[in-house]
Amino acid sequence: MAYEAKDYGKLLGMEGFSETLLNNHFTLYKGYVTNTNKVMEMLTAMLKEGKAATPEYAELKRRFGWEFNGMRLHEYYFENLGGKAALDKSGKLGKKLAENFGSYEDWEKDFKATGTMRGIGWTILYQDNLGGKLFNQWVNEHDVGHPAGCAPILVLDVFEHAFMVDYGLKRADYIEAFFKNINWAAAEGRLK
Ligand SMILES: [Fe+2]
Repeated sequence: MAYEAKDYGKLLGMEGFSETLLNNHFTLYKGYVTNTNKVMEMLTAMLKEGKAATPEYAELKRRFGWEFNGMRLHEYYFENLGGKAALDKSGKLGKKLAENFGSYEDWEKDFKATGTMRGIGWTILYQDNLGGKLFNQWVNEHDVGHPAGCAPILVLDVFEHAFMVDYGLKRADYIEAFFKNINWAAAEGRLK
């Protein structure tokens, strides 16, 4: 079954995100969905044709992780946006962040520091499925650095396409705008 692109049009109008930036970002996301399906189809066809032991097959296998994560990480990102309310620090996620980082503020500091690292990729708050520990992680491009067996709780896109149209090189300002629009209920819903 092919993957289908989701519609995130409800995010248009978010404070600090222009329609041009968001519409471009939605189009880019749809490209990952299309290519995830395409790579899967190509691999299936090559396997049937007896072409699995070829460099082309191997390269497409490598490519799949990049396209798939490009699709899925954008879905996590758009789904944890569009919120209006600040995090309830006495709620499940607020308490867990304080428990793991000393305080909510220290978590935020670490998340923002990770987000402003040089390079393109993602900043992700993860929960380890074994033991439940929370930590902030840098993911390079879409596919390098995912900790095995951990669930993404909050996902921030720090590729330049996510902010340059509106913020130029001011990534920290974009991250401030991101924080104003976090859908904390969505993030908390991913927590175990
Ligand atoms: Fe993106």
